[in-house]
Amino acid sequence: MTATKLMPPKIAPSVLSADFAALGAAVQNVQQAGADWIHLDVMDGAYVPNLTFGPPVIKAIRSHSTLPFDVHLMIVEPDRHLQAFRDAGADWITVHAEACTHLHRTLQAIKATGAKAGVSLNPATPLTALDYVLDDLDLILVMSVNPGFGGQRFIPATLVKLNALKQMVADRPIEISVDGGVIPDNAQVLTQAGATVLVAGSAVFGTSDWAQAIRALKGS
Ligand code: DX5
Ligand code: ZN
Repeated sequence: MTATKLMPPKIAPSVLSADFAALGAAVQNVQQAGADWIHLDVMDGAYVPNLTFGPPVIKAIRSHSTLPFDVHLMIVEPDRHLQAFRDAGADWITVHAEACTHLHRTLQAIKATGAKAGVSLNPATPLTALDYVLDDLDLILVMSVNPGFGGQRFIPATLVKLNALKQMVADRPIEISVDGGVIPDNAQVLTQAGATVLVAGSAVFGTSDWAQAIRALKGS
C-alpha cells in the first residue's frame, strides 16, 4: 500500500495574539511571512468571557492584506451582525452551533451575504450537531480549546473528534479547521486527522520569526 501524500494545511494566523496597536502592519507582515488566511476572533463578553473587536476594526485592516478574512464569531445572536461583518470584509463567517437557536437559518443568512458559511463546535459539543446541516456548510471549525482566550493548551480529545469528522465529511468540499493550542508539534497529526486549515495565534505572533513559524506549522 502506498501512503497518500497529504496536502499541506492552510495556515490562518489569529490576530488575537498580535499587537492590537499595530494590527494593519500585523496582517500585512503575516501575509508576507506566508500565511494563507487571516483569522479574526470576535468576542462579545457574553458568549465567551472576553471582548475583542467588531466590524470597524476589521474594516480598518481590510486594505492591509489581500488574504481571505476568516471571521470567527464568538457572539450571541450572530444573525444581527452578519451583514456588518460581510460589509467590513469578511470572506468566511463562522458561527458557533451552541450560540445559534436556528442554525440552519443562520447559515442561509451567511450565504445570502455572499460569504462562505462556517460552523464552530466547542470541545464538548458532539458532531451530531452537524448532522442535518452538513450540505449547507463550507467550513467546520473544531475548537481544540474552550473559546475565549489565546495561548491555551490543546485538548487531546480533539483528535478523536477530527478523525470522526473526516469520515462524516467524506468527499464534500468542506474545509476542516482546528483552532486552539495548535503548535508545530501537533500540526502534522492534526493534518493527518483531516484538518485542512490550522488556526494559530501564539504559535505565530508569539514568535520572533513568523515565516519560520508558518513553515513549521505547514511541516515544510
Ligand atoms: C480562542 C480563539 C483562537 C485563539 C487561538 O477562543 O478562537 O483563535 O486565537 O490562540 P492560540 O493559537 O494561541 O491557542
Ligand atoms: Zn478563533
